[in-house]
Amino acid sequence: MQAAEARYDEFAEWYHEWVEDLPPLIAAHSDLLPAALAGERVLDVACGQGRMSRYLATLGADVTGIDLSAAMLGKARAAGPDDITYVRADITCYSDWWDGRPFDGCTCELALMDIDDLTGALSAVAMVLRQGGWFIASVVHPCCPGTEKGRSSWPPGDGYDREGWWTSPDHNPDGIRIRVGASHRKLSTYLNALLDAGLEPDRFVEPPALVPTYLLWRCRRR
Ligand SMILES: C[S@@+](CC[C@H](N)C(=O)[O-])C[C@H]1O[C@@H](n2cnc3c(N)ncnc32)[C@H](O)[C@@H]1O
Repeated sequence: MQAAEARYDEFAEWYHEWVEDLPPLIAAHSDLLPAALAGERVLDVACGQGRMSRYLATLGADVTGIDLSAAMLGKARAAGPDDITYVRADITCYSDWWDGRPFDGCTCELALMDIDDLTGALSAVAMVLRQGGWFIASVVHPCCPGTEKGRSSWPPGDGYDREGWWTSPDHNPDGIRIRVGASHRKLSTYLNALLDAGLEPDRFVEPPALVPTYLLWRCRRR
């Protein structure tokens, strides 16, 4: 398995062009976000080339984006605006990058499948959020059985129970997963990990689709 920090570096140019005109799912379901974001401190976890961070900034949030990939962050910084703070770090190692000032909210757009340590990432989110702060995430639906655009959330030969990172040459040739793979977790793993971290779900969204494709949630820090 390739080290997580290296997975996106070689595809940053490709990824930037691929997603730049695609609105983040969290933006498309913006009713999950608080009505007013002006002045709110928001952490965009695994921000990549920054499309979610930029959306949050347009709503007036004071945004910090964090990502492992220097190349992805290069794209983010080049796109501006200058008042978004971008940090190159592993979300799970919060003592390396967090200054101790709590965030009002955290987002994580389509990236938990790229983070090897789910428990560590959610613990870090819970640590840096203020009490009552919100965490909104979108993921490839853990029950996605595959669509015309790609394979199931899980490695098809092994089945839904086989959690962990995997890749396949049969992924959608036009998508990101054939390039970087993905981590599959069962739905119960996600939900239990959120609860164990002290992040209590208060809203779920499954965008309309013929088969489960994406899942979004909002949690509050206990
Ligand atoms: C599919 S991209 C999503 C980027 C962005 N959220 C978006 O919607 O375009 C996944 C990102 O997760 C980042 N990533 C993976 N593991 C990470 C970790 N432990 N800490 C921070 N970022 C991580 C990768 O570098 C990559 O940029």
